[in-house]
Amino acid sequence: MSDIVIIPEPVKLKRLQGSFKINPQTVIFADEKLKSSAQAFVQLISPATGLNLPIKNYSSDSKQDNTIIFKKAGQSCGESYNLQVSHQNITICAGAEAGAFYAVQTLRQLLPAEIESSTKQQADWNIPAVEIEDCPRYQYRGMHLDVCRHYFSVDFIKKYIDLLAMHKFNYFHWHLTEDQGWRIEIKRYPQLSEVSAWRNEDGKKYGKIYTQDEIKEIVRYADVRHITVIPEIEMPGHSVAALAAFPNLSCTGRKFEVGTKWGVYEDVYCAGNDEVFEFLGNVIEEVISLFPGRYFHIGGDECKKIRWEQCPKCQERINKENLKDENELQHWFIEQFADLLKSNNKKLVGWDEILEGGTMKDVTVMSWRGTDGGVKAAKAGNPVIMTPCRYCYFDYKYRYLPNGPGIEVDQDKSQRTYSLNPDVPAELTASQAKNVIGVQGCLWTEHIKTAGEAELMSFPRMCELSEVAWTPQNQRNFKSYKQRIKIHLRRLDILGVSYYCEPEILD
Ligand code: ACM
Ligand code: ZN
Repeated sequence: MSDIVIIPEPVKLKRLQGSFKINPQTVIFADEKLKSSAQAFVQLISPATGLNLPIKNYSSDSKQDNTIIFKKAGQSCGESYNLQVSHQNITICAGAEAGAFYAVQTLRQLLPAEIESSTKQQADWNIPAVEIEDCPRYQYRGMHLDVCRHYFSVDFIKKYIDLLAMHKFNYFHWHLTEDQGWRIEIKRYPQLSEVSAWRNEDGKKYGKIYTQDEIKEIVRYADVRHITVIPEIEMPGHSVAALAAFPNLSCTGRKFEVGTKWGVYEDVYCAGNDEVFEFLGNVIEEVISLFPGRYFHIGGDECKKIRWEQCPKCQERINKENLKDENELQHWFIEQFADLLKSNNKKLVGWDEILEGGTMKDVTVMSWRGTDGGVKAAKAGNPVIMTPCRYCYFDYKYRYLPNGPGIEVDQDKSQRTYSLNPDVPAELTASQAKNVIGVQGCLWTEHIKTAGEAELMSFPRMCELSEVAWTPQNQRNFKSYKQRIKIHLRRLDILGVSYYCEPEILD
């Protein structure tokens, strides 16, 4: 197995004698239902090999020598696949396109690293003979990106999505609104593009908005790579950029500027003002039309209550709705949108604060402050995505790179991503643990300004997380990962990805 490096590691892998060689005479046969994955393979290998392999319709007599076959077969889930490579041919069996696409990502990693090059390379395109059976541990394997604190170009987001796909992630959580910038065009409210997208930074305007055309382009780009994009529209807190355009939506009605400092602001949407619900309802309606996926993230984290405590309208709402306090008011606020999203066939996702002030059925919780919020939610029967900051916040500075980008945290607050077991076995019964549907890495960007820094902070941590998300827990082994990542980094070099490899990994 020593000549084979695949991240995330497959469930079952058997090395056989010999190898298959891709050459100009190689022919691909694909079942109609798996054609787009066959096309993804051709596109992936074409720049480096200079080959544009033909794709023909699969039939039962397709198994001739020098063929690559994409064959539809019954599989336990749409993301699983079997891959057989022999001297004569390659056979991929998958129940659906996603599984075949993951088989392609595995094949890619079985090819020499030069396959990642965007220009023609002189290499023998040998694939070692193997038998692989593979399926993911979790149905939700996500990466997040905050584009509000710093803006990232459409090209960078595509590169990020490509890297997610390579590591078999299937969700991209796009954090689109914040105190310091609103980044999604809403046609009904042009003030969001004109005012909320821009902040004053050292006397200059900083910011930008993604147009709806750009958003659609990214959603399509991700979809082809079997990645669902989840939009996040923050409420009730982290909303100062919106209040800068619409001060009437705040408790005080005073004039605001788009946030210029990091941290948590005291001004939030007024929970007693019906105009807030009309505004957010209209925003959500437009956002829904751009994102076909089932999940919709409404934030819900770090909402300070001081304005609500002092606001007559908020206090009136508390009285009228028979609520105990501002925590219950926050819960009531979120509930308004849970109903709206449900009626649009969407699943509400929120940070773990959304279950403070009461339980809520059918909402998915992202446990970020640790695993406690997730444990509580899993016990209550809510689906949980584990993203505990100690393991999953990739904006935390690398221990051995104190002058590098990212946020400074105490050493004991930062744990190796690889060591996370999201099921928290000590606290959940086996059936409660089934409510943990996956994991996610988060990249907040207060202290990450450029695409290069975003990559440096994400890699190779994203590779570690991919194995947490995909590979069975009882099979994971940091020693094996360390050996493989060293070789895998060569691919990232050729792809032009910045990374930082800690001494613990290189030893
Ligand atoms: C968060 O980090 N405030 C979700
Ligand atoms: Zn208010």
